[in-house]
Amino acid sequence: MFFFFFFNLLLLLYPSTSFPLCTNTEAPITLKIPLKFCSYNGSSCCNSTEDSQLQKQFQAMNISDPSCASLLQSVLCATACVCNFIKEFSFDALVFAVTRNYESFAEMIIHAARVFVKRLSIQSGKRFFLSLQPFCDFQRCDPFSAELFTIDSVSRPVPRLCNSTVSTNSSQSNQATNDFCSNVWDTCQNVSILNSPFAPSLQGQAGGAPVNSNFTKLTELWQSKTDFCNAFGGASTDGSVCYDGEPIKLNGTGTPSAPHGLCLEKIGNGSYLDMAAHPDGSNRAFFSNQQGKIWLATIPEVGSRGALQLDESNPFIDLTDEVHFDTAFGMMGIAFHPNFAQNGRFFASFNCDKGKSPGCTGRCSCNSDVNCDPSKLGTDNGAQPCQYQSVVAEYTANGSTAQPSSAENARPSEVRRIFTMGLPFTSQHGGQILFGPTDGYLYFMMGDGGGDGDPYNFAQNKKSVLGKIMRLDVNNIPSAAEINRLGLWGNYSIPNDNPFSEDSDLLPEIWALGFRNPWRCSFDSERSSYFMCGDVGQDLYEEVDIVSKGGNYGWRVYEGPYPFNPISSPGGNTSANSINPIFPVMGYNHSQVNKQIGSASIIGGYFYRSNTDPCMYGRYLYADLYSGAIWAATEDPENSGNFSTSTVQFGCAKDSPLQCSSVPGSDNAALGYIFSFGQDNSKDIYLLTSSGVYRVVPPSRCNYTCSKETSTAVETPSPTTSPLPSYSNQLRPISWLLLSALLLLLLSIA
Ligand SMILES: *[C@@H]1O[C@H](CO)[C@@H](O)[C@H](O)[C@H]1NC(C)=O
Ligand SMILES: *[C@@H]1O[C@H](CO)[C@@H](O)[C@H](O)[C@H]1NC(C)=O
Ligand SMILES: *[C@@H]1O[C@H](CO)[C@@H](O)[C@H](O)[C@H]1NC(C)=O
Ligand SMILES: *[C@@H]1O[C@H](CO)[C@@H](O)[C@H](O)[C@H]1NC(C)=O
Ligand SMILES: *[C@@H]1O[C@H](CO)[C@@H](O)[C@H](O)[C@H]1NC(C)=O
Ligand SMILES: *[C@@H]1O[C@H](CO)[C@@H](O)[C@H](O)[C@H]1NC(C)=O
Ligand SMILES: *[C@@H]1O[C@H](CO)[C@@H](O)[C@H](O)[C@H]1NC(C)=O
Ligand SMILES: *[C@@H]1O[C@H](CO)[C@@H](O)[C@H](O)[C@H]1NC(C)=O
Ligand SMILES: *[C@@H]1O[C@H](CO)[C@@H](O)[C@H](O)[C@H]1NC(C)=O
Ligand SMILES: *[C@@H]1O[C@H](CO)[C@@H](O)[C@H](O)[C@H]1NC(C)=O
Ligand SMILES: *[C@@H]1O[C@H](CO)[C@@H](O)[C@H](O)[C@H]1NC(C)=O
Ligand SMILES: *[C@@H]1O[C@H](CO)[C@@H](O)[C@H](O)[C@H]1NC(C)=O
Repeated sequence: MFFFFFFNLLLLLYPSTSFPLCTNTEAPITLKIPLKFCSYNGSSCCNSTEDSQLQKQFQAMNISDPSCASLLQSVLCATACVCNFIKEFSFDALVFAVTRNYESFAEMIIHAARVFVKRLSIQSGKRFFLSLQPFCDFQRCDPFSAELFTIDSVSRPVPRLCNSTVSTNSSQSNQATNDFCSNVWDTCQNVSILNSPFAPSLQGQAGGAPVNSNFTKLTELWQSKTDFCNAFGGASTDGSVCYDGEPIKLNGTGTPSAPHGLCLEKIGNGSYLDMAAHPDGSNRAFFSNQQGKIWLATIPEVGSRGALQLDESNPFIDLTDEVHFDTAFGMMGIAFHPNFAQNGRFFASFNCDKGKSPGCTGRCSCNSDVNCDPSKLGTDNGAQPCQYQSVVAEYTANGSTAQPSSAENARPSEVRRIFTMGLPFTSQHGGQILFGPTDGYLYFMMGDGGGDGDPYNFAQNKKSVLGKIMRLDVNNIPSAAEINRLGLWGNYSIPNDNPFSEDSDLLPEIWALGFRNPWRCSFDSERSSYFMCGDVGQDLYEEVDIVSKGGNYGWRVYEGPYPFNPISSPGGNTSANSINPIFPVMGYNHSQVNKQIGSASIIGGYFYRSNTDPCMYGRYLYADLYSGAIWAATEDPENSGNFSTSTVQFGCAKDSPLQCSSVPGSDNAALGYIFSFGQDNSKDIYLLTSSGVYRVVPPSRCNYTCSKETSTAVETPSPTTSPLPSYSNQLRPISWLLLSALLLLLLSIA
């Protein structure tokens, strides 16, 4: 059972991020009223309860010198160490632990673990073993606390204090003048601080268990300011921030320039719904259509004027016998395991018809757990509730060749069923699948299941996976008995740091909630914390969200930024006061693309990270299904999560390999319906449309102005054929300190 401690530990090693996130990798909350003790306003990683806890902790430090006290208050407001499982009992337990003056932090953890074990036995029978949270959750008020408190992926007790007087490349405001670390030393060196957060750790650095809690003055703990600032100081550099005594603010340009246009060449004439770059890093990609076939295609080099090499008559795999294909049904997504080149594993997400395919026997998503009775739903477009189902199935490219990466075909026989679930109605069932670039887990996007206004309020129901983004571990498959015991929807296990570990009301599969129909999500290839999802609206607004752990994106309490009132709500309501919605970072009103209500549907895209169009670099692209508009969003200040958007022209490259025609009376390409965006291994961006496959090419090929484009520098380096490193290689080594603390913990429990 306690093996799970190890997994939790690994998950503390999340790579550092710059987008506002709290240390538990969740998004900050929006404060309804400003905090009293900590002067945070607007958005914060702590609420009023935690704020008053901080005040108590501050008073317990008993700092006599007012200037030092004021500095410590500000540091503390970004620094409250609250052990999660102690917090679950009461704050008094923590006060108890602190006032009893535990020799070390480790001892406090051990104490907490003992209490926890007692509680475990009481809770036995529940899915409890997955929800262990053995290490302290450093809850900090600053909305950038994930960034402030993580250096090289090891959590620390106090933020990185700005210590540099010169900052050439800082994204932070005020950075140039404030040497906050020196300031803390100069002000506090001779002042006694009880339970000082500045004690050295076993490593002789900042962070971890203090060696000696007898000393209370900085001069007793550290030999010199240099030593102190080597341990706690740090500079704000490109992409990282430091604490300068004020809540983090980033510099912006104020007026980001809008790009002139997106130049498109047409390289294929098939109509595809999804695209996945070949995980071996080569210039190949898989394309899938809604009917249920996947093709492996070779992508021509940018500038070669070649077309996509794809043999329609020879698909990589043909699943049309299993797939139920109709307007809103079919093969919705494909995903190739990050180690596909070695293990040959790949996955398809599609719909099936219970009456036609034998494996289409999932549990109905309208069930007693969510107060839904399928016999009361009635038919939708002639279909019985749960007649159509959502499936994720695993296949293998092994068999035809010894090397999976050289496979050109795969047998349509399922290796394993990952997920099967009956759908209540006939629309809004998402279906995209994606592997997380840093965690290797499978993200599975699921819509609210249809019906006008989500009548059963599934998207807000924590016991339903409808209207959710799920996160599943497909590398560790439990036994059938275990799957049955845990009541899972198929062959997967639960990543133990999924949000249910902090909110036990949530089904363990859930990563984020409150979606209507997430249609096309992507991870920024340069910043994995930017997990972007387009979420299709109903009557008014199409949105793009930055999806963070446990985030509630509002649907059916809100549609985009607007409060939403359902016509009928047999499944009950969620009140706006009871949730902390995260509002979209960009989007558009239906009226912006079409005066007719309903005729708009967002297609989420990608952060453009290719140099093919240097003026598009770093911007997020998205579109409307009806191809009336494509948007480019620019983040300003950088890493702030603040976007300004503008529509862009999208013309045909004058020398397009396949004929690309324009909309009559316009310079925009006639794309038909835009179904999806795609990205290849060179980070070039594609539009998958009903009229074919288009690639973004240098703006000069459309006569668009881009001052960054040089006539010679438009060619991107051709992708390598060597396999990319596997995701597991990217996990950083565990620090010795954390390991030893862990051993201590395990020993004490045994
Ligand atoms: C909170 O924000 C308001 C307006 O945005 C501002 O006037 C006020 O000074 C802020 N308070 C603090 C404590 O930062
Ligand atoms: C503050 O957050 C904690 C969990 O982090 C929660 O238990 C508590 O109810 C919240 N308090 C308020 C006033 O929202
Ligand atoms: C706090 O400091 C004062 C003197 O500055 C001292 O008299 C008092 O005992 C201290 N309290 C604690 C709990 O150490
Ligand atoms: C500043 O940042 C830019 C781009 O991020 C980089 O090209 C440049 O080398 C950096 N300068 C310094 C002094 O670090
Ligand atoms: C950020 O703003 C400060 C003052 O507001 C300025 O001195 C500094 O140069 C700016 N940094 C950048 C990278 O623009
Ligand atoms: C702290 O103590 C040292 C040595 O006793 C002294 O030189 C220094 O001026 C003191 N600093 C302050 C701010 O009192
Ligand atoms: C800390 O103080 C206690 C009693 O005040 C003493 O017994 C112990 O040896 C001290 N520890 C260190 C490392 O000095
Ligand atoms: C700031 O801190 C870093 C490491 O934390 C250290 O390497 C650097 O020398 C410090 N700079 C100054 C000016 O103290
Ligand atoms: C495009 O379609 C035509 C027939 O409509 C076909 O002959 C041609 O091979 C297709 N080209 C590509 C690149 O698929
Ligand atoms: C596919 O083949 C590779 C070796 O080429 C092997 O490591 C892997 O386990 C195989 N996968 C399956 C699902 O059999
Ligand atoms: C697990 O996969 C096997 C093989 O595809 C399948 O028979 C079984 O039904 C799956 N289990 C669940 C719960 O879907
Ligand atoms: C594009 O620019 C070239 C050279 O400036 C010019 O000859 C050509 O007519 C332009 N094409 C269009 C469609 O404007």
